[in-house]
Amino acid sequence: ATAWPAGKPVLATPADYPRYDYAGDPKGSFEAICDMLIAEVKAELPALYELPERENGWIERMLQYNTKGGKMTRGLMVVEAGKVLFERRGQPVDNTTLCKLAVLGWCIEWLQAWLLVADDMMDDSVTRRGQPCWYRRDGVGSIAINDAVTIEALVYKVLKRHFAAERCYVRLVDLMLETTLQTELGQLLDTMCDNLTLADFSLDRWRAIVTYKTAFYSFYLSVAFAMTYAGIEEQGAYDAARTILIKMGVYFQAQDDYLDCYGTPEQIGKIGTDIESKKCGWLFCNAYNGLTTPPISPQQKALLDAQYGKCKVGSAAEKSIKALYEELNLEKQYRAYEQACYDEIMALRPTVTEVPWEVFEVFLKKIFKRSK
Ligand code: FPP
Ligand code: MG
Repeated sequence: ATAWPAGKPVLATPADYPRYDYAGDPKGSFEAICDMLIAEVKAELPALYELPERENGWIERMLQYNTKGGKMTRGLMVVEAGKVLFERRGQPVDNTTLCKLAVLGWCIEWLQAWLLVADDMMDDSVTRRGQPCWYRRDGVGSIAINDAVTIEALVYKVLKRHFAAERCYVRLVDLMLETTLQTELGQLLDTMCDNLTLADFSLDRWRAIVTYKTAFYSFYLSVAFAMTYAGIEEQGAYDAARTILIKMGVYFQAQDDYLDCYGTPEQIGKIGTDIESKKCGWLFCNAYNGLTTPPISPQQKALLDAQYGKCKVGSAAEKSIKALYEELNLEKQYRAYEQACYDEIMALRPTVTEVPWEVFEVFLKKIFKRSK
C-alpha cells in the first residue's frame, strides 16, 4: 500500500554496504554507516517525495547536526552484542551482518537524536554535545519540533530499507515503537514534576522516571535489537536480559544526575540545569527525604523549599544548594551507591544463559565511573 511511486522502497543489498573494519577501526566503520544512511535519505527524498533542493539540504544538515557528536555507546553496543551473539550461536559474522547491526545501532542513535532535539526545547536547554541546541540555531526555532518527528519517521524508512525482507522485521519495528512509548511515558513522569510539590519527589518516583525515560532506550533496546537480529525468540531470554539492563540504565541516570551537578560543561557537553528546573534527581531525592548521613536539618530543608526549582543558573542560591549537598556528604554517598550498583549487577551473572555474560559486562565497563 505504500509502494508509490513504483519500486519504493529500494531495498538494500549486500553490495550496498561498505567494508566494516571491526578489528582495525570499530568507531570509524560505525560512523561510516551513519554517512551511508544520510546519503540514502538525501537520494530518496527528492526522487520519491518531490522534495525541493533547499528542503532536502535542510534535512541533510539537520541530520548531520543532530545525529553525530555523541559517545555512540548505545549504537556501538548493538554491534558488539550482536557479534558475540552470532558467534555464540555458530552463525557467520560476515560484512553484511556487521553493517546491518550498525544500521540498527544508528536507529537507536537517531531515536536518541530526535528525543534530545525535543527534550532540549522542553527543558529550555542551551547546549548539547558541546554545541548550541538545534532549536537555538538561527532560523530553526520551532521548526525543530518538525525536525524531531521527521528524524523519527526516517528511522522507520531505515528499518524498512534494510530489514523489510527479514523475518525479524516486524519484531524490530515493534521494539522501536514500544521503546518510544516507554520513553515518552518517562518524559511525562519527568516533566509532570513541574506540577508537583517537592514532598512528592520520592526515590520511588525517581526510579520510575529513570526506568522509563532512560533505561529502556539506552540499555535494553541495544541488546534486544541484537538478540532479535540474531534470531532469538525465547521470551525468557529477553526477560533475563531486561532485568539486568534496566538496573544498568537506572544507575546510568543516577550518574547523569550526579554529573549535572558535579560535571563541568567541558566534560559533559551541556550546562546542568537540574536545580533550576526542579528536577526529581537522585541527589535531590536523597537529600530532601532525609536519606543522607547526616540527614537534612529543618533549616536546610527550608532552603530547598525556598530555592529549588526557583533559582537561576550560576546564582548564589544555586551555589548554596550545592554547598548543602556537600554538608550532607552526597558525593560520598553517590560513590557508595555506584559501587553497590556494580556489585548488584555482577551478582546477576548466574541468571543469564541465552545471552553470554560478556555482553553485559562490556556494557557495564563502558559506563562504570564515567565522567562524561
Ligand atoms: C533526556 O533527559 C530526555 C530524554 C532522553 C527523553 C525523551 C524525550 C522525549 C520523549 C520527548 C518527546 C517529545 C516530543 C515533542 C515528541 P534529561 O533531560 O534528564 O537529560 P539531559 O540532561 O541530557 O537533557
Ligand atoms: Mg533535558
